[in-house]
Amino acid sequence: MVYFIFKSRSEFRNSRKNILIFFFRLLSIIAFILTWSYFIFLCLLHFKTNNNSSQNLSKQQQEQPCRIQSPESIKIDYNNIYWQRFQSSNGTFFFYNAFYDDRILNGELSTIRILSMIDRISPIKIYCRIWFSNSSNSIITLADYHYIWSRQWGNYEDKILQPFLINCPFPRQKHLQPYFVSLFEKNCTAITNNLQIINNRPLDKNKQSFAVCVKGLEFLHDDLSIRLIEWIELLNILGVKKIFFYEFDIHPNMSKVLQYYQNETKLVHVQKLSLPGSQPNSPLERKKYLQQKIIHRRQNEIIPYNDCYYKNMYL
Ligand SMILES: *[C@@H]1O[C@H](CO)[C@@H](O)[C@H](O)[C@H]1NC(C)=O
Ligand SMILES: *[C@@H]1O[C@H](CO)[C@@H](O)[C@H](O)[C@H]1NC(C)=O
Ligand SMILES: *[C@@H]1O[C@H](CO)[C@@H](O)[C@H](O)[C@H]1NC(C)=O
Ligand SMILES: *[C@@H]1O[C@H](CO)[C@@H](O)[C@H](O)[C@H]1NC(C)=O
Ligand SMILES: *[C@@H]1O[C@H](CO)[C@@H](O)[C@H](O)[C@H]1NC(C)=O
Ligand SMILES: *[C@@H]1O[C@H](CO)[C@@H](O)[C@H](O)[C@H]1NC(C)=O
Repeated sequence: MVYFIFKSRSEFRNSRKNILIFFFRLLSIIAFILTWSYFIFLCLLHFKTNNNSSQNLSKQQQEQPCRIQSPESIKIDYNNIYWQRFQSSNGTFFFYNAFYDDRILNGELSTIRILSMIDRISPIKIYCRIWFSNSSNSIITLADYHYIWSRQWGNYEDKILQPFLINCPFPRQKHLQPYFVSLFEKNCTAITNNLQIINNRPLDKNKQSFAVCVKGLEFLHDDLSIRLIEWIELLNILGVKKIFFYEFDIHPNMSKVLQYYQNETKLVHVQKLSLPGSQPNSPLERKKYLQQKIIHRRQNEIIPYNDCYYKNMYL
């Protein structure tokens, strides 16, 4: 009996011990699982918040439309007084003037043509943003290039400024006149060029018979006043309605002659000109440069000839 009791007691004790051990093990396993899951939860939370903030950023970047504004004049990258510079990711552009071309042969599209010099033979893809006069609207079109030089004439290489006509074709607008044009490479980057679009039309709708365009005058020391007068008068007799002169530097006497014709007869129009980029523009250096770098000079001469033509194509 005693034995039985004892035995049962010891058995009883043993089983209690086993249960305790079992509960202890269970508890430690639960504690282990809880700790780990808490740890994993913390990790996930951390990862999630991090992810959220970066999503937040990119979402903001995606959703917030970049405010595209016509650049203020103080933010424009001017170059040598008469030019505007555009620094692309591959090549530097110099814009001289922009013109509105809606001649019939142009077809369904009107074109903005931008007379420019670019230090690349094959410039990169750029876009035009055309702003309209009495509308805050603007349109974006892909620009195409018209190389206005021939490779056989020399200087056909990158880094030398090449004359180009940049064309921005856009659907003909009935009531809106294009007013300004800016060129850019990537959306949402600050625009630092803005050219007023030239659109000279005859006020009385009568086209004039003919005009003469004269490339940049460079007569720093020679006084050719008398011969200049003879030439202007002869052209006048031959029926020329207007002579468009571009001027680098001329003798003061010649300058007076041109001013006289411009003020008194309207037969002459004079426009100052400069060389774009890092080409020299102080009178003596420029004279030397134009005399010695003949191909460069000819490439630069393309600009006044075409400027004169596109400015007056409707007149
Ligand atoms: C996420 O957006 C909220 C408001 O929408 C802003 O307070 C928070 O600064 C943004 N976080 C980051 C990292 O930009
Ligand atoms: C820049 O353009 C020239 C051709 O115009 C090309 O040969 C050159 O690889 C371009 N450079 C870069 C960095 O894209
Ligand atoms: C826009 O300008 C044209 C002519 O310049 C004018 O007829 C038209 O009424 C103007 N439209 C607005 C909305 O101002
Ligand atoms: C610039 O963004 C506008 C709208 O955000 C889009 O319509 C246009 O195609 C984009 N232009 C370029 C050149 O990426
Ligand atoms: C031209 O200018 C010079 C001074 O620079 C003057 O001495 C000369 O008489 C002028 N020539 C004519 C034809 O007026
Ligand atoms: C022509 O006009 C300009 C300004 O209108 C004046 O500065 C200049 O002295 C005039 N020149 C002549 C020769 O009349």
